Amino acid sequence: MVKTKVTEMLGLEHPIFCGNMMNISYPSFAAACSNAGALGIMASVMYRKPEELREALTELKSLTNKPVAVNVNLFPMLKPIKQIDHVKVMLDEGVKIIETSGHQAPDKYIPLFKDHNVTWIHKCAGTRYAQKAASLGADIVEVVGWENGGATGRYDIGTLVLTPATIDAIDIPVVAGGGISDGRGVAAVLALGAQAALIGTRLMATQECPIHENLKQAFLKASIYDTMIIMRSLNATHRVWSNQAAQKVIELENSKSNQMEIFNAAAGAKSKMMYEEGNLDVGVVSVGQSVGLIHDIPSVKDMIERIMKEANTIIQNLSNK
Ligand SMILES: Cc1cc2nc3c(=O)[nH]c(=O)nc-3n(C[C@H](O)[C@H](O)[C@H](O)COP(=O)(O)O)c2cc1C
Repeated sequence: MVKTKVTEMLGLEHPIFCGNMMNISYPSFAAACSNAGALGIMASVMYRKPEELREALTELKSLTNKPVAVNVNLFPMLKPIKQIDHVKVMLDEGVKIIETSGHQAPDKYIPLFKDHNVTWIHKCAGTRYAQKAASLGADIVEVVGWENGGATGRYDIGTLVLTPATIDAIDIPVVAGGGISDGRGVAAVLALGAQAALIGTRLMATQECPIHENLKQAFLKASIYDTMIIMRSLNATHRVWSNQAAQKVIELENSKSNQMEIFNAAAGAKSKMMYEEGNLDVGVVSVGQSVGLIHDIPSVKDMIERIMKEANTIIQNLSNK
């Protein structure tokens, strides 16, 4: 068993965070991650109304009594929700671990987190943002390197450099993600000084992941070269699966189309359709380079156990050398 500051702080069996994914990290999936001994993180952004979020939180509580977090989305949205109402529902429902992620620091929510004894985790893609979050009182920072699926930030720094740079820059525990799919990746970021590993893309090819089988099979076949960066022209760089829809976004960016047209082409509603219907080209899906390291579709529990067994063996072997 690997114990770290973060497993101790949160009461986790394994030093693994399961990345929150919009339209995927519903209560059942987040609970599957937590029940496997990792930190499940439920997404909240797909619930348009506070009452829908409340129902989801009730479901989440019925599915796991292990540590579980809920994400507050700070990314710009085509149709914004009233985020403060979502935060109030989370606090009202006794959520004790909140992850924030996005383009801004959650200044106005921090006093609420502190008043309610919430462990506040902030996810970002650069050391300077991690420093800001730490200075505002974050308990844990997650940093994601350029390999990662989803938002990559604007500096293009890989996990191998971003992780130690961030650890050197702040005094609170750092969790590292971007490109981690197996025990080798987990052992690597622990060796860099991270207190846990954050995994997103690899989770898409698990039995419990609520996306269409066509997508899971496509990810099994994909290589490390099958992702691309979009929306750099809008300062909203995302690493996504290289499909027709992503190519279309690049064409729109290159032809200097208007922002709304580009955002519409990359809209989350279209990825949701793909997850539900299995059409591979209708929309844009966040996917990291580790998609090329996926070789099977295990249950979340089997995957986490396998990853930790491999990480433990590596750590043992290195310390016996
Ligand atoms: C399909 C997918 C959807 C994602 N959606 C979100 C999201 O809504 N909000 C967010 O903060 N991160 C999102 N992420 C990022 C993950 O939470 C995590 O930070 C990232 O996947 C870790 O890097 P990896 O993909 O290399 O494992 C998403 C990632 C994927 C693959």
